[in-house]
Amino acid sequence: MTQQQNGDFSPINLKSFIIDTKINFDLYMLHPSQNRHVLFSSKNTQFSDATRKILLDNKVPSLYISPCDYDLYLQYIEKYLNRIISNTTIATPQKSEWIFECAKKITHDTLDNPDVRKNIRRSTTFVKNLVGFITKERSYFPHVQKLFETDYSLSCHSINVCMYALALCVAMGESSLKILEGVGMGCLLHDIGMTVIPHDILHKDGALDELERETIQKHPEFSTQLLNNLSVKNELIYDIAKSHHEKLDGSGYPIGLKGDDIPSHTRIVAIADIFDALTSQRPHRDAFPTYQAFKILINDFEGKVDGDILKKFVTLFQNKK
Ligand SMILES: [Fe+2]
Ligand SMILES: [Fe+2]
Repeated sequence: MTQQQNGDFSPINLKSFIIDTKINFDLYMLHPSQNRHVLFSSKNTQFSDATRKILLDNKVPSLYISPCDYDLYLQYIEKYLNRIISNTTIATPQKSEWIFECAKKITHDTLDNPDVRKNIRRSTTFVKNLVGFITKERSYFPHVQKLFETDYSLSCHSINVCMYALALCVAMGESSLKILEGVGMGCLLHDIGMTVIPHDILHKDGALDELERETIQKHPEFSTQLLNNLSVKNELIYDIAKSHHEKLDGSGYPIGLKGDDIPSHTRIVAIADIFDALTSQRPHRDAFPTYQAFKILINDFEGKVDGDILKKFVTLFQNKK
């Protein structure tokens, strides 16, 4: 039997395996007495109901995978996410974790290769599954909130904005799956234009000069150009990419739209976007704690963001269990 030293093997919850699917990575068991991982099944083995029963009868709580196979495991979860989400025996916090892992991988791949259509298709499928999850499991928000990351990488920011904005849309009474999916995709892709901004401007440790600020402020236009190149059709996605930095008093960019000229769902995303920027670690400052970010939004953004949406956003955090 193949044996591996007990290194950085990841435990895998058995519930993530769908019966009668092929597992395309090696699975290991923890040897009870030797603290070593031993091969349980080789890659491309079918995971059958009999296998699951044997494991459960022998009180094996989890199997393990080697660190080099973790990406293959994430691909497996992504492929079967729909079925995992529909499994009522899996607890919401566990589903939230898998959803977040998939979101990180898909968003990272999409923003790393912003001209690859396959990644847009993956994002579309993911957002459909995500919307299915949040509309069925209303208690999900505190669980996903625990998983938010506070570094300001573009992929983490896009996922955080997506989760906040969708929670806020649902709290505002939005029930159309089509609209929720559009908002979700719009959020994942809203800053895709940042991928063409030079790295030294994007990560500058200090104040931006006039020209650098103007370059950054072009990212909504770059986002819409990239969406166009990718043949994205949904108007909602364009609205969000184009207008998420517009302010109700006309002080935003790139156009300086005012009031109702800013689409309502974009106003939701704008609040999620500012809140995530404030609560994230930046090169020039620490992350603000939640209460302080709310204070800034209420005081410094009065008249700039939608007050009713902001009030609702605050209640999302008050309902936290
Ligand atoms: Fe932006
Ligand atoms: Fe953003």
